[in-house]
Amino acid sequence: MAWSPDKTVVNSWNEWDPLKHVIVGVADGTCIPPAEPASDSKIPADSDMRGMHGPRTQDTVDAANEELDNFANVMRKRGIRVDRPTPLDFNQVVSTPDFEHGTMFGCMPPRDVILTVGSEMLEATMSYRSRWFEYLCYRPLLQQYYDEDPKMRHESAPKPRLTAESYKENYLSDDITIEERLAMVAKKDFVTTEFEPLFDAADVLRFGKDLVVQHGFTTNLKGIDWITRHFPNHRVHAANFPGDPYPIHIDATFTPIRPGLIINNPERKLPDEQRKMFHDNGWEIVDSARPAHNSPPPLCYSSVWLSMNVLVLDPKTVVVEESETFQCEQFDKMGMEVVPVPFRKAYPFGGALHCATTDVYREGNCEDYFPKLTQAGMI
Ligand code: ALA
Repeated sequence: MAWSPDKTVVNSWNEWDPLKHVIVGVADGTCIPPAEPASDSKIPADSDMRGMHGPRTQDTVDAANEELDNFANVMRKRGIRVDRPTPLDFNQVVSTPDFEHGTMFGCMPPRDVILTVGSEMLEATMSYRSRWFEYLCYRPLLQQYYDEDPKMRHESAPKPRLTAESYKENYLSDDITIEERLAMVAKKDFVTTEFEPLFDAADVLRFGKDLVVQHGFTTNLKGIDWITRHFPNHRVHAANFPGDPYPIHIDATFTPIRPGLIINNPERKLPDEQRKMFHDNGWEIVDSARPAHNSPPPLCYSSVWLSMNVLVLDPKTVVVEESETFQCEQFDKMGMEVVPVPFRKAYPFGGALHCATTDVYREGNCEDYFPKLTQAGMI
């Protein structure tokens, strides 16, 4: 039976099949949370984010919302159903029996929190105290999908304690050089410990039967083990990108475009030994185009490589930030239709076009794109 916008069905197995239903975040009330163990290591010493916290200004919120609304409308005009989360008052203390933290964050990037695999929507553990309750913004939608689609599975990973035991003490000192930091990352020395499973949904890429998960600051090995046990019919692979000094979320590093084609950040190359799974199965990994900008917009958590944080609408169509001319050209040469949208004012609120969305329905089923792969585990 053909998909219809009036009937909710949760189904999405990969990052490229034709998109029909998606959640797009909103910028309302977004805060810059005070520093915490997980975020300290993410914010470079010379960043304009250092020492900042509190609600973002209304004019920046309005400008971000204008771009988010436009992005949602561009997709609606193409027949895609778009739903929006319900923001909370983010300027309130986050408190559990284990910790208290100054403010929450926001709900612009649903990709960070909700992982859709087939008919399941899974709330990630998250790994920042400020983001512990963020899933609540998506509960109205997930409850609606649960009521409307009898096959939908609403799951939640075990909430982490996020006590001091989850983070390495004194992991980051400001006088550490970028070379030293890269050496730590290459040794897989990250800020989070292995005390409890931790993962953000945006560290996971879906390739049908295979899930590729970045091990880094926001996802630990226990988190990857939890995902592996939770999806027993999948093969789950841990990946590392040693050139990223702040390995947080995989989607400005490694971006599948269609079956057989991935763009990889040329400064964060997948190590040779981890390429085997792709090469053995006929996948091409090409360097992504350079970003068009030398720096991110002010008060932004992410790098200039948000240029490659694109949303694939189907294997021939991709939404790209409009000023990212090199990335647009690269896709054009690959034979893709490029849909440009303005998004740089939304970047500081949680990232680019992939970050700002999470799939509800893509056409297609769970395929095996790596038939020569027999073994799950580390790639
Ligand atoms: N952490 C990713 C980057 O900033 C999104 O490149």
